[in-house]
Amino acid sequence: MLSLLVSFGIVTLVSAQGAIPCGTPSVQPITTRIVGGVESAPNSWPYVVLVVDDLGYIAGSATIMNEHVLVTSAQHFEGPGYSIFDVDITHWRVYAGEHNIRIKDPNEHYYHISRVILHPAYNYTSLENDIALIITKETMELNDHVRFVCLPDSSHQYTVGQTCYLPGWGSTVASGNEEVLNQVDLPILSDDICQRHWPDFLPATEVCAGYENGTKDFCADDIGSPLLCKDQNGQWYIQGIASSGGNCKLHDEPGVFEDVSQYSDWVKKTMKDANYPYHP
Ligand SMILES: *[C@@H]1O[C@H](CO)[C@@H](O)[C@H](O)[C@H]1NC(C)=O
Ligand SMILES: *[C@@H]1O[C@H](CO)[C@@H](O)[C@H](O)[C@H]1NC(C)=O
Repeated sequence: MLSLLVSFGIVTLVSAQGAIPCGTPSVQPITTRIVGGVESAPNSWPYVVLVVDDLGYIAGSATIMNEHVLVTSAQHFEGPGYSIFDVDITHWRVYAGEHNIRIKDPNEHYYHISRVILHPAYNYTSLENDIALIITKETMELNDHVRFVCLPDSSHQYTVGQTCYLPGWGSTVASGNEEVLNQVDLPILSDDICQRHWPDFLPATEVCAGYENGTKDFCADDIGSPLLCKDQNGQWYIQGIASSGGNCKLHDEPGVFEDVSQYSDWVKKTMKDANYPYHP
């Protein structure tokens, strides 16, 4: 059987990372309940990359969809006073396999960005459709420390009360060490809680998650980070993208995330049009 596979060149396919199902880490993330944020187990969120701008500052995080495509928030690239046309994107980098930003981790590797595709209906005032795809210049190497996430389709709904996780390099997560990838566990909340706190909350395309009176939240550096939820099949899905509401100083307001399931058709079509189709 093996020789048959070899003769048809299928072994390459089987041994490639593409054969590993999306959203399956080789290092299991910490999922015990912890008060406040905690440092993540290194490479337990292998879909999450660090985005660094042309001046070397952390812009936030993005999430790996395939060897050439990352999903993140549009506000990294366009907002009040700055536009994608002014951003010198070719000097930005994304670091995959990253854990500690101050040292060269054994598994980290950086890639350049060739282009960014903002959602055509992104509105930086309302932060409606705050989603963008990053196309890398080089092919990202997928391995035990760098993998792609599962994309939820539009019928893949989240459950209120479900605990999901936000990994990020933001000061948020206040594990006390802002140089490493931290994580915070955030329950999905009902839309009306976010509507109460944020009158411009958009229930059709946004997810409310976090705590109303809690001690955990995300910070500015976590914008674009994924809200990752484990499905019954054991795979991790990107259910949300951190967009607004993160106020790590106050901790008394829930966070607002783009509901990725409502954008999966756009993500898939845009990936296909870019010649890097999604292949879970
Ligand atoms: C963007 O959002 C703002 C605030 O909600 C709104 O006033 C404006 O009309 C929106 N722009 C577009 C092009 O929809
Ligand atoms: C949060 O605090 C508000 C105001 O004190 C209260 O009405 C609400 O029930 C609290 N929510 C939770 C989840 O404890």
